[in-house]
Amino acid sequence: MTLRCGGRMQMADGATGVEQGWDRASILALFDAEAGWLDRRVLSDQALYQLELERIFARGWNFMCHDSQIPNVGDYFINYIGEDQVICVRGEDGEVNVLLNTCRHRGNALCRAEQGAAKSFVCSYHGWNYALDGKLIGVPGQSSYFHGDLDRSQLGLVKAAQVDSYLGFWFATMAPDAPSLHDYLGDVGRTGIGMICSYGDVEVIDGIQKNVIDCNWKIAVDNLFDWYHVMYSHASAGSAGIFKPAEILHPNNQLVMLGEYGHAISGPGLPSERQTQIDLMSDEERIEASRSAPANSQRIRPRLGAELMGASGVRSMGHPNIFPNLWITLGGMQVCLRLPRGPSKTELWWFTIVPKDAPASYRKVAVWTAIHLFGPGGLLEQDDGENWSQSTRASVGFSSRQLGQTLKMGLGHDRVTVDEHGQRFIDTRINEHAQRWLYRSWTEWMAARDWAELRARHSPAPEGAV
Ligand code: FES
Ligand SMILES: [Fe+2]
Repeated sequence: MTLRCGGRMQMADGATGVEQGWDRASILALFDAEAGWLDRRVLSDQALYQLELERIFARGWNFMCHDSQIPNVGDYFINYIGEDQVICVRGEDGEVNVLLNTCRHRGNALCRAEQGAAKSFVCSYHGWNYALDGKLIGVPGQSSYFHGDLDRSQLGLVKAAQVDSYLGFWFATMAPDAPSLHDYLGDVGRTGIGMICSYGDVEVIDGIQKNVIDCNWKIAVDNLFDWYHVMYSHASAGSAGIFKPAEILHPNNQLVMLGEYGHAISGPGLPSERQTQIDLMSDEERIEASRSAPANSQRIRPRLGAELMGASGVRSMGHPNIFPNLWITLGGMQVCLRLPRGPSKTELWWFTIVPKDAPASYRKVAVWTAIHLFGPGGLLEQDDGENWSQSTRASVGFSSRQLGQTLKMGLGHDRVTVDEHGQRFIDTRINEHAQRWLYRSWTEWMAARDWAELRARHSPAPEGAV
């Protein structure tokens, strides 16, 4: 991959595709999609982890922030592309720049606050000063100590190769040859983000909850599709009255959507016959029906929902994941980033999202729910985190890692339906289709040396039997 700076090729690091024993065949062998078997080294191997930083995170489109977090010139939010810290900042021209947060002198981090507003970024080490678009605009002692030898035009902050947004959600990739964000998201990714926006304009509430769990990031992604664990893992949260597992589960009405490049949505879905009735309702009737149903039992969306999620996707009450690591949860009230911090550590960032016009009472409930379900104080995340860290732990031991993981649920028992608009979905019961899709896609990303190879050799979204 090549990094760009100020429009010029700055450094070529094609040589960092260190495979360290992992060639294409051995990577593809890590997951057997026909048998539903995963090699546990996927969750623990250090060389695979290094390759993930290059081939998945630097190459893919990563969620950066929401428009509402950086409304004005100079507003910034710090995020990561893999382990590379980046500054997402609104430039003088109103465009969003994504800049590697590392000074071109000795590499010091320029911006230390998690978010804020700045006129420029001044390095705390020796005072180099960078504009909001990353240009190096000031160097103490440039003419005296450096004798005019510094070419400032070559020493701007490195910019993400592509930055773009969909419905106010900003993404960035370090790969100049990555497909456009629109094409990358595809139907499934766009349906997932549409889920958040189907009730109108939204904003992120200030205060991102952040915590670290001792688990591989993929275990956390696998789990968001997993509706099998809910009754069992979260029984205690259910008995504490935090939520009602039976009301949200709908074990025999599950809807799965599998999209190109690894995106997926899995979880409860409205039966199509019920959706047909809803399609005939006015917005007023939908609101009335939602109010009269028990909480979460049916997510009846307004008409805008079908525009953003598609005629079949609008039935989803499940969990989308934008590959690799953006989980959209609870029908769009929160999104969670699973940031890799080594094979056995993941930093989770929880963004709470509300409709822009939501009254204070709604916001209060949204914050209460966000704190009590997920995040460091959330009961559900405490249940899940224990299981994720112990599952990761068991991928390290010499004997236990030989056992692999079993992902057989529903394998060979379902079919992908294609609706009249071309949208693909699987109507089924509780299953592991999306988990298998995650690991299959992961091996394809990891085995491909560049975007050209990934484009040519990745699996298309499945049709027929799955
Ligand atoms: S490291 Fe930034 S100015 Fe020296
Ligand atoms: Fe859970």
